[in-house]
Amino acid sequence: LRIAVVFGGRSAEHSISCVSAGAVLAGLDPDRYDVVPVGIARDGRWVLAEPAQRLAIADGELPEVTGGTAVSLVGDPGGRGLAVLEPAAGVASALTEVDVVFPVLHGAYGEDGTIQGLLEMSGIPYVGSGVFASAASMDKEFTKKLLAAAGLPQGVHVVLRDASGAVSADPGVLDDADRERLGLPVFVKPCRAGSSIGITKVTDWAQFPEAVATAASVDPKVIVEAAVPGREVECGVLARPDGPPQASLPAEIRLRPGTEWYDFAAKYLDDAVDFDVPADLTPEQTRLVQETARKAFLALDCRGLARVDFFLGTGPDGADRLVVNEVNTMPGFTPISMYPRMWAATGVDFAALVDRLVEVALA
Ligand code: DAL
Ligand code: MG
Repeated sequence: LRIAVVFGGRSAEHSISCVSAGAVLAGLDPDRYDVVPVGIARDGRWVLAEPAQRLAIADGELPEVTGGTAVSLVGDPGGRGLAVLEPAAGVASALTEVDVVFPVLHGAYGEDGTIQGLLEMSGIPYVGSGVFASAASMDKEFTKKLLAAAGLPQGVHVVLRDASGAVSADPGVLDDADRERLGLPVFVKPCRAGSSIGITKVTDWAQFPEAVATAASVDPKVIVEAAVPGREVECGVLARPDGPPQASLPAEIRLRPGTEWYDFAAKYLDDAVDFDVPADLTPEQTRLVQETARKAFLALDCRGLARVDFFLGTGPDGADRLVVNEVNTMPGFTPISMYPRMWAATGVDFAALVDRLVEVALA
């Protein structure tokens, strides 16, 4: 089976995608897969990645797609559902046909339905969610709307819009009533991004205008979320080729003293958090998290895989209160990422996980 692993891309999560792809490439059994590594440079060029391409974080330096033979992706002219990676004009190398694409891409132009649309139009099978689920899960506003419609509780939030309803990066559109409803602290976020890029924790409204500008530099659409008290818990969902999706054992992220919140540095660069895989939860809490993760996956029409992130707190009645923070349709696959680790703890090792994803993509 020939599989194209596509990574890098035009989003702010370019480097994290490279690190994820490094783990996926290392996890694909060479006896079963003929692997074609396809990098997308930050400027959008597609290249056949060279063996020397670095895909790990080295001394705090993030990897990046730079060189490689330029290729373009076209649908199979014979209509057999094969991808043809065609060397760009003037490059003399053989055509490579692939049976399935694994878009190990995070964020815009990869996790948001755009490459999925390209692959759909080309008739090429691919791993993960389709156009709608990818787009809806990438956009925190619409994720919340769809989850709320499915009866899953949401934290207090406001999307910055002007009086006409248009998206606005003017911090003044957040009025006093909104501020009162949100309280402090708030998290100011680009609506469509990942890995905490562009997010600021605001503890004083004086910091708000700068936080909005930071978020708007990543995505013109900005969302302000009230902090949700509770433990930070995650759960992996993995489709089965037949039957309902399966939820992994949940994991918990515990911030070390001195770490304010789970930002980019805490995620990938600093030794700032402890991961409990699996999380130390009661059997009832575990069931609640798993059941809610499956519901969120289905509410958004996800396919293949997703990681659902939660806050587990206590309601006014003293009972557990679980709030979905977000759904990631292409969760990180880096060596420290939670998704593969939660599956390993559940009894599905990395090779089996990748096999299942490919099987579901081709089903
Ligand atoms: N967006 C990052 C890669 C994650 O959710 O793991
Ligand atoms: Mg995310």
